[in-house]
Amino acid sequence: MKIILTGASGQYGRSAVDKLLERVPASDLILITRKPEKLAELAARGCEVRRGDYDEPSSLVEAFAGGGRLLLISGTRVGARVVQHQAAIDAAAAAGVGHILYTSFIGIDDPANPAEVRHDHIETERLIRESRMQWTMLRDAHYADAMIVMAGPGVMATRQWVANAGDGREAMVWREDCVDCAVAALTGEGHGGKVYEITGPELQSFAEVTAMMSEITGVPIDYVPVDDEAQYAIFDAMGIPRRPVDDQYVSGIPWNSDDMVTFGRAIREGFLQICTGDVERLTGRPARSVREMIEENIEMLRAAAE
Ligand SMILES: NC(=O)c1ccc[n+]([C@@H]2O[C@H](COP(=O)([O-])OP(=O)(O)OC[C@H]3O[C@@H](n4cnc5c(N)ncnc54)[C@H](OP(=O)(O)O)[C@@H]3O)[C@@H](O)[C@H]2O)c1
Repeated sequence: MKIILTGASGQYGRSAVDKLLERVPASDLILITRKPEKLAELAARGCEVRRGDYDEPSSLVEAFAGGGRLLLISGTRVGARVVQHQAAIDAAAAAGVGHILYTSFIGIDDPANPAEVRHDHIETERLIRESRMQWTMLRDAHYADAMIVMAGPGVMATRQWVANAGDGREAMVWREDCVDCAVAALTGEGHGGKVYEITGPELQSFAEVTAMMSEITGVPIDYVPVDDEAQYAIFDAMGIPRRPVDDQYVSGIPWNSDDMVTFGRAIREGFLQICTGDVERLTGRPARSVREMIEENIEMLRAAAE
């Protein structure tokens, strides 16, 4: 059975393709991108690379033809993705896809959760459930990579971790663990109708993670909690747009500040305080920790502090 991946050229998608190629023949993978030339190397290895654009629904039906399972990797236009995901879900149903797996987000059942991502994901999950295809929701926690690898160098350089997350706790997860879970569900059986909450192994506040970064790197760092307005001002000064802008990365950050500030508030107010054993349930091994990610990146983090 052929497996389709949207977002195949992105960080999540490329990692998923690499891991899938260890389990299935390249000819079983249908990789979707707006720019097929980005995936020329994977086409040369035997994957089917097809052009598809969430904003051009007609391109998707053709792109999904012949696929049995679809990994819908959520789009990047945070706060405005439902229409894009709807196009992908409709196209999958029209193309005869039997099972759709979706990269969603934890903590979205509570309507009081202020995170802007909540709306995109809960609405997309609703559309998928109503589609009559089999489904699996892969609800990922906050990626540790975003905080340690992407934001980490700035934290080390300034020796300050400034955030509006207060003392809220969350169980950050390695993106690679999320991808391993997706690959297990895509290539395994018995995952239809399941909602997985894919988290790291322990709940931690930003203050605790900051102290851990200090201890491991030997560089003193302070956690500086700020309110939402101050957090907006910081992002504004960095030139990060408030609303989503496609394919725009500022200091390596692809998101908009409405997303990030509401996300910090959701952590602060306890909506992401969820820790499960679903990584182990899906992969057969425990989730990796934030400590392990700091240790793995210790040289890069120390160099950023110099
Ligand atoms: N849990 C977390 O903390 C967290 C953090 C970051 C991201 N995420 C989630 O993970 C997802 C993927 O992240 P990533 O790091 O892999 O993103 P990324 O590296 O920026 O890649 C984005 C992907 O989206 C595709 N894409 C964008 N607009 C598209 C469109 N109009 N039609 C079709 N494809 C489109 C791009 O494909 P082409 O350019 O090849 O067309 C690309 O493959 C995000 O959307 C988000 O939902 C979660």
